[in-house]
Parts: sequence; C-alpha cells; structure tokens
Amino acid sequence: MLPPAGEAVSIVEVAPRDGLQNESVVLPPEQRAEFISRLAACGLKRIEAGSFVSPKWVPSMAGTAEVLKLLGDRPELRLSALTPNARGFADALASGVAEVAVFMSASETHNQSNLNCSIAESLSRYAAIIEQGRATGMPARAYLSVVVGCPYEGKVAASKVVRLGVKLLEMGCYELSLGDTIGVGTPRQVSELVRDFIAEGVSPERLALHLHDTRGMALVNVLAGLESGVRTFDSSAGGLGGCPYAPGASGNLATEDLVYLCDGIGLQTGVNLENLVDTSAWMAEKLGKRPVSRVWQALRATKENA
Ligand code: HMG
Ligand code: MG
Repeated sequence: MLPPAGEAVSIVEVAPRDGLQNESVVLPPEQRAEFISRLAACGLKRIEAGSFVSPKWVPSMAGTAEVLKLLGDRPELRLSALTPNARGFADALASGVAEVAVFMSASETHNQSNLNCSIAESLSRYAAIIEQGRATGMPARAYLSVVVGCPYEGKVAASKVVRLGVKLLEMGCYELSLGDTIGVGTPRQVSELVRDFIAEGVSPERLALHLHDTRGMALVNVLAGLESGVRTFDSSAGGLGGCPYAPGASGNLATEDLVYLCDGIGLQTGVNLENLVDTSAWMAEKLGKRPVSRVWQALRATKENA
C-alpha cells in the first residue's frame, strides 16, 4: 500500500557528488558551491557536497574542502561528503562537513575496482572511521553498492547484501543506502530486499534507496520502496550521474522525476519543482549537456512554449 497523502519523504540530493563525479568537465569549487546553494534554495536539505577521495581516482571531486569553505556555516542544511578511508575522514573532519558517508560494494570485484581493497578491508577501515565519528560527534551514513547486480559478477545474492548492510548498521551508521548502481533492479527485488532487512530486525526507516534509471526502472522501484516502508530516497538534479567504477551506470534517478511522483501522490518533499528545473538548466549550461530527466524535459518544454 502507498503511504497516506501528507506523509513526508526525505530526499538526499546527490548531484553535486554522484552527478559531477562522473562528468568529464571539471567544475571549479565556486560553481559547485553555487550549485549546492541553488539546490538548497529549491528546498533540498540533505545534500552531498562532494567526496574526500583520491583526486587521481576521481579528479572532479578535488577541492571538496574548498566547496564546503565557500558554503560556510549552513546549520539549516545537512551537508555530507564521501570518505573512503582514514585520510578522507580526517579531511572531512577538518572541513566542518555535517556528516560523512562511507561506501562499499556487495560484490568483491566492484569493491576492488572502486576502492582498491577487499570487502573485509573496507569493513575494517569503516569500523575505525565510525568509531572516530562517534568520539567526535560526526554521524556516518553507509552506502552499499551493486545490491541487485554487479557489472562484473552479475546477480548479487540478497543474503550477502543483508549480511553486509546489517553489519554497517551495527557498526554505528545511522542509515543504510542501498544502491542499485547499474540500474538492473525491478520492483519485486526491491520489496523482497527490504522485507529481508526487516526480517533481520532493521526498520525500513533506517534504509534509503539509491536508484539508477539506466533501464527506466527507478520510479517503479521507488514505489516498491514506498510500499515496503522506505521513506528516504537518493536522487540527482536533472538525473546527472553514474559511477566511474560501474560501467553502464548512467543516470541516477532524477530529483525532478522523484518530486513529480511524490507531488502527484500527495507526499511531502519540501522541494519546489519549478525552481529545481531552473537549477538543473543552469547546471546543464555549465556542463554543455541537456538533463536526461523526463519531467525536466516536459516542464522545460512547457515553459519554453509559453
Ligand atoms: P589507493 O590508490 O589504493 O590508495 O586508493 P593509497 O592508500 O595507496 O594511496 C594512493 C595515493 O592516494 C596517495 O597519494 C595517497 O595519499 C592518496 P600519493 O602518495 O600517490 O601522492 N590518497 C588520498 N588522497 C586524497 N583523499 C583520500 C586519499 N586516500 C589516499 N581519501 C582510494 C584508495 C580509496 C583512495 C581510492 O580507491 C579512491 O579514492 N576511491 C574512490 C572512488 C570513488 O570515489 N568512487 C565513486 C564513489 S562510489 C559511488 O559512486 C557509488 C554510490 O553512488 C552508490 C551507488 O551508486 O551504488 C555511492
Ligand atoms: Mg550512485
């Protein structure tokens, strides 16, 4: 069953990180900070500002500390940044970001290609980071990638996803974002995965869905998530993004598409869709490409024809 009209949905806006990390155009910190400010002005409160990862691996995320410095103190927002290791966590702490996100994969091969280490090594690095976070008052969110399928290994067993996800939550992450990194999942897989977590004692309130629209399944998977009790979804303005270490992982779920769906079924997001369309248009100009979001295209066409 869908949630009753009036319920709130929490959106984690990932375009400044998951979107821009995949672009060949590297934007200066000033434009990245302005993008975040514009997204905030649309009503988005949880925004991923960037990553403290190796600039050799992901050049477009270099300068995340500068982005946060330019943004200054924004107590009304929950800005976060990805941290893959102790060095990244130390940089995140120094930057004043409100929270960190640790990330790993449910398949060995994807973890190796994304983080250059094994799943066991990632878990041990994150145990230390989360412990340090506890001591310093820095909340940690967790991402688990390729939860349905892996570009290298194919189908990923739900039992493995649940075991790793539960471990990350037990280690102290406040929320677990389940990533269909290459956009292969379909609604029954989403419902069954959430059901399996619930069977292990995890409330769906501690889960988020991070969906990619590679095969046009993102919104139906959002519906499956909503019907299963999930109320937090990651999305990217204009549908920017993918994962540089997941071939074929084009197109994050677009925030415009998510907000249109939520508005239509009476769920509250706090996001002004019209302003968001303008913000994605502003960013598209910087990147020299049109947003892939269907809702963006429809609303933009209506505006241009008016
Ligand atoms: P490595 O090469 O094994 O690291 O990379 P290393 O420890 O051997 O160090 C190599 C060099 O990197 C050294 O510098 C370190 O100082 C430096 P050098 O001596 O050569 O000059 N280094 C760093 N520099 C800045 N920040 C750091 C850092 N750590 C080491 N934190 C590493 C290991 C984890 C660093 C690398 O693999 C990496 O940066 N990976 C990040 C990959 C990434 O960002 N992927 C995209 C995000 S995940 C995603 O998109 C999926 C998601 O959206 C969910 C979904 O869709 O499913 C979240
Ligand atoms: Mg992603």
